[in-house]
Amino acid sequence: MKVSRISDHIHYIGVNDRTTSRFEAMWPLPYGVSYNSYLITGADKTAIVDGVEACYALRQIEHIRDIIGDRKPDYLIINHMEPDHSGAIKMLRDAYPDIVIVGNAQTLAMVNGFYGVADKTLAVKDGDTLSLGADVNLRFTLTPMVHWPETMMTYFVEEETLFSGDAFGCFGALAGAVVDSDMDTSRYFPEMVRYYSSIVGKYGLFVQKALRKFDNVAVRTLCTTHGPVWRDRISEVVGIYDRLSLYEPLDNGVTVIYGSMYGNTELMAETAAEALAEAGIREIDVHNASVSDLSFMLSDIFRHRGLVIAAPTYSDTLFPPVRNVMEAIATRGVKNRDVLLIGSCTWGQKAVGAMNSYIESIGAVSAAEPIAFKQAATAVQLQQCRDAAGALAAKLLQ
Ligand code: FEO
Repeated sequence: MKVSRISDHIHYIGVNDRTTSRFEAMWPLPYGVSYNSYLITGADKTAIVDGVEACYALRQIEHIRDIIGDRKPDYLIINHMEPDHSGAIKMLRDAYPDIVIVGNAQTLAMVNGFYGVADKTLAVKDGDTLSLGADVNLRFTLTPMVHWPETMMTYFVEEETLFSGDAFGCFGALAGAVVDSDMDTSRYFPEMVRYYSSIVGKYGLFVQKALRKFDNVAVRTLCTTHGPVWRDRISEVVGIYDRLSLYEPLDNGVTVIYGSMYGNTELMAETAAEALAEAGIREIDVHNASVSDLSFMLSDIFRHRGLVIAAPTYSDTLFPPVRNVMEAIATRGVKNRDVLLIGSCTWGQKAVGAMNSYIESIGAVSAAEPIAFKQAATAVQLQQCRDAAGALAAKLLQ
């Protein structure tokens, strides 16, 4: 059986991108990414759900022809307009001039704005339905801000299949198989947390609103726009998105983020990590903020309950690589973390105050008084760091 066949009515027509090095020109793609697109065939009509990046338009059209030959798809349903999914719209319209573009009012305004396409469209509202025949009925649910304001989801009623857009997606290109039951999915879960924390992390409240809209809807197959089609592990995937969007950590580990120009602050970060390990914390990730990519730091911050941040003062304010991380945390409104702050300086301490204002702005819970030191930490200050990290560990292990 072809791996692209998801059911009698649904075929995968997406593509893998192992060429783009940074998603949204920011987030590294060490394992690539897939742009998932689906073809739904009913007794009377055929619909494409979601699209692909512009440069993959021809491949998507080849996939469509492999499945339906010279038949023309009737509808292009757009759940999300970010160009990783909408880039091929103009080429699809050129290949299929009569295809009707289906989206809500905001979607259709963006189709015109991005691509200058305004004709042969069908505007849908929350709860509207579209029939492709007696055997395939689709229902649309508006889910704004998951991840843009126009986002919606499409539910195939008879097969209890949800086309969820970016929700429940992850980084990582597909390796042959499409459906989770046909592959080892372990590689995708870390990339799901990194995808969520980088891309969707700011919109937890809206993810929660979307999840609540489907509380009483049976879903047997989850077709996202990135990563595997989920069947066997739907509850695990939904559970991860549920917890992440509530800003609940996935474990009691600790992320240690530090900036250090000459090693003095690094020594305090290393000391804290050692003390955490000695106190029994097993999930510890240490990042030099000048070297680690932001997406990997954010991913660990979303995963772990504990957070240690150590940074010097620089130009009378917070060391810029650490400030960048703190701004990313604040932008995403990360909450419910137990935090230990360590600030250093050579002559005027500004790092602690600056870090504290970020932490207060996000409502994190500090486990201990911040530690401040000048130049190189003394033996007393190193012990203070050990004690504070030990107190943080004790709190996390309660
Ligand atoms: Fe995969 Fe928000 O686009």
